[in-house]
Order: sequence, then structure tokens, then C-alpha cells
Amino acid sequence: MIPPGKTLGILGGGQLGRMLAQAAQSLGYRVHVFEPAGPCPAGAVADKEVNAAYDDIAALTTFARACDVLTYEFENIPSAPLAAIAGLAPLYPRAEVLHICQNRQREKAWLRANNFPHVRYAEALDGDIAPAIAVVGRPCVVKTADFGYDGKGQMKIASDADLEQAAAIFRGRRCVVERWVDFSREISAIVARSSTGETKVFPIAENIHTRHILDFSIVPARVSPPVTHEAETLAVALAEKIGVVGLLAVEMFVTTGGEVLVNELAPRPHNSGHWSLDGCETSQFEQHVRAVCGLPLGEVTVREPTVMVNILGDAWRWQEGRVIGDPSWGAILAAPRAKLHLYGKTEPRPGRKMGHFTVRDADIATALTRAQELKQKL
Ligand SMILES: Nc1ncnc2c1ncn2[C@@H]1O[C@H](COP(=O)(O)OP(=O)(O)OP(=O)(O)O)[C@@H](O)[C@H]1O
Ligand SMILES: [Mg+2]
Repeated sequence: MIPPGKTLGILGGGQLGRMLAQAAQSLGYRVHVFEPAGPCPAGAVADKEVNAAYDDIAALTTFARACDVLTYEFENIPSAPLAAIAGLAPLYPRAEVLHICQNRQREKAWLRANNFPHVRYAEALDGDIAPAIAVVGRPCVVKTADFGYDGKGQMKIASDADLEQAAAIFRGRRCVVERWVDFSREISAIVARSSTGETKVFPIAENIHTRHILDFSIVPARVSPPVTHEAETLAVALAEKIGVVGLLAVEMFVTTGGEVLVNELAPRPHNSGHWSLDGCETSQFEQHVRAVCGLPLGEVTVREPTVMVNILGDAWRWQEGRVIGDPSWGAILAAPRAKLHLYGKTEPRPGRKMGHFTVRDADIATALTRAQELKQKL
């Protein structure tokens, strides 16, 4: 066990690192943040911020030596530097877990090899997508293997014209081609597995994406008890099979036939778990700290049904590509059972996650309506 008072090192300095740092500090840990480009949202609240490239082995080594346990909030950390600091302090989740989850091809191959239900897909190794598309059929979606997030590096293919355009865009890039899923719902399960082997699954969230970016998370998800049970069971089985220590977020599709298919895995706190800061007995950030430090995991009961809404840079007032004013926070701040969370980012950009807010109500439909109304008033 790594008790309170010790130092947690976080690789990555975005909003996930910031909220992780805040949770760790509440438990009495010291927090160091490593982020290439400073000043960063996590660094602003940490005991120490180090700015150096992820492949700066010397800087990473000095950083690791000053920490008692290491974790990350960002998937695209190169594996080689992580191998170089292995042994200086425990790193959770292990580098092997990150290696699988940071690349779609490896992640999907791992799901397939371990018989977890997933979307039909084929690999397009040399960027030649036509044969892979012939295997999965249309409509489908082409996704780059590396560095995708918020729908970046993805294209849906239905017509011949789409295919032609995609063939040019993705030429030479490693991709996967996935069958398009007519889902009835998108849900996610966030499971914590501690270094002692204890596991706990957060209540299932229902996720609504707009232009491939998470817009609303609704908890509890409006799905049937068997779907909830299936999602929870899958999440625990995945966490145990991959051997994660920390959080594993599992994004899933619920098909119109009621089948649950795994879409993506993320070995870290997840946007769809932000509701837990206000709506759950233990937040996902506190749970991650507990898991990597080997503390008993916290209770995950829902305090009150909660809707989380992402606040993107689009909510700022724009004129001719320039920001001319902030969103009006007044309505959220004045609303009962609503909470505003901003990440301290100074430069809003369209599509950039700047913050989120939550709305709670005993009735989830009421919470959703109020959340939609408050979003309109930003
Ligand atoms: N095969 C599919 N069928 C239908 N919709 C899909 C499919 N793949 C992706 N989508 C839609 O696009 C969204 C983003 O896709 P995905 O989760 O694969 O990408 P990402 O860019 O890695 O996103 P994230 O920000 O979650 O990391 C999904 O949540 C879903 O709404
Ligand atoms: Mg996703």
C-alpha cells in the first residue's frame, strides 16, 4: 500500500490529470505532473509541474525518482520511455495495458483473441482500405490505428464516392475498418481494479455524442436490467483479463437487438465518468487514486441520478474566428442541484473540452430536460 503523504506522479497534464490531482490531494497525497507543454491544467493545481518531452528519458527518470507511484491520464505516451523508467516506481496501469489500448489494431485484436464481443472489423495494414471494406461490408467506418480521439481520424463510408475519398485520405496510414453499428444506445462502464485485486464497477452511464464528441452522460443509463448486468459483467471480465490496476473505461454499443458490443477501452479516468464527482459516493478520480495506491476501493452508489454536459470551446462567443466573450455561467451557477466544473484552460477552441456541468434530480428525465435548458443558456 502507498499511504497518504506519499507522492503520486501523473504523466499528462490535461483536465483528467487536474481532477485526478485534486482527488489525490484531498486524500493527502503530494502530486507531481509531467507534461510536454506547460503551463497545463493539472500543473496549475499540482505540487510540482515538470515540462519536458515524453521521450526525454533524463527528465522522465528524474521525475520518476521523485515519485512513489506513477500513473497517466493520457494514452498516447510512447512505450519506449515508459520501459526506461520501469523499476524506478510502480507504474499503474502497467505499460503493457497502455500498449494494447493506445492502438486500435492491437486493442481490437486483443478483444478478438479473448472472445469479448466487439464490432465486426478488418485491418487495413498498409492503408489500402478497399479489401478491408469488402470484408466488413458497407456502411462502415475507417479509423486510424493511432492517435484518434473525439472522432478525429475517422470517416464513415457508404457510397462509392466516400470510398474513393477515404482511399486517398487514409493511404499509407494503418487503419481498422469497422462495420457501422445501428445502436439503440451508447453506454460506458468504468471499472476500478486495485493493486490488491479488488474490483468495483461504477453505475453504467448512457452517452450521447454530437459530432463524435461526448455531449451528455446520463446516469443511471436508460437501459434494461439485463443490459446493465451484461455491461457490468463485461467490464469486470475485461479488467481482470487485461490485468489493469487503476481504472478501465469501457465504451460499448447496445444494438437494436439488445446485444452489448465493446467499442473502445481506456485505462484511465474517462469523460463519461465525470458525473461521479457530484452524483456518486466516490468519484472516478478518487477511485483511481485508491486503486493505484492499494487502498480499499470506495463505495460507488449513485447519490442521485445525474446528467453531465460537456462544455466545449464552441460555447464561447466567437466573431470571425476570434473569441469576443465568455459563455454566461449565471444560469448554471444559480440553478439548484447543478455544479459547474471548469478546467482552467485559457484558450478556447471549437471542439476543445473546457469544462462540464452536472444536473441532479430524483427523476432522470427531469435532470436531462434541465441540463438541456441550461446548455442552451450558456
Ligand atoms: N462502428 C461504429 N458504428 C456507429 N457509430 C460509431 C462507430 N464507431 C464510432 N462511432 C461513433 O463515433 C464515436 C467516436 O468513435 P470512437 O469511440 O471509436 O472514437 P474516438 O475518436 O477514439 O473517441 P474517444 O473520444 O471516445 O476516444 C462513437 O462514440 C460513436 O458515436
Ligand atoms: Mg470513443
